[in-house]
Amino acid sequence: MTSVLFICLGNICRSPMAETIFRHLVDERGLTAEFEIDSAGLIDYHEGEKADDRMRRHASMHGYHITHLSRPVEIADFARFDYIIGMDAQNMRALRAMQPAGSRAQLLEMASFLCHHESDSIPDPYYGGDKGFEHVIALLEDACAVLLDELQAT
Ligand code: 4NP
Repeated sequence: MTSVLFICLGNICRSPMAETIFRHLVDERGLTAEFEIDSAGLIDYHEGEKADDRMRRHASMHGYHITHLSRPVEIADFARFDYIIGMDAQNMRALRAMQPAGSRAQLLEMASFLCHHESDSIPDPYYGGDKGFEHVIALLEDACAVLLDELQAT
């Protein structure tokens, strides 16, 4: 079993989208039983809420259905997950600051898995328009496929 936790700031746009796309790929490759997949946010402001309406609308335009409810990341996640994956440099700084010494989780940055796009982050779409949400989906489809290739190869 491999466990993967996707992280963004609010856990209502990027990380629930990453979780949904990654799970779709895992299911498509017949690996459902081999993965535990979740997402969480660095702030608890949206705790218990569904993903942002705009993110869910763009997701459904691409055939994805986001069911996740927002939750904040907790210290126990660093012992529970093999991989914790942040969406931007700010996420990575916050995760490094939270991570207990010697904890199980390996911290990874999502943009490091991009192969068809050049971007050093998965940019926050919250204050932007439709283009930002479409860009997040394109980047996450690219990075999730490479991430899964790499995890299957290990
Ligand atoms: P996310 O987007 O980190 O991709 O879920 C955001 C959602 C909410 C806020 C910021 C970013 N916020 O400030 O409430």
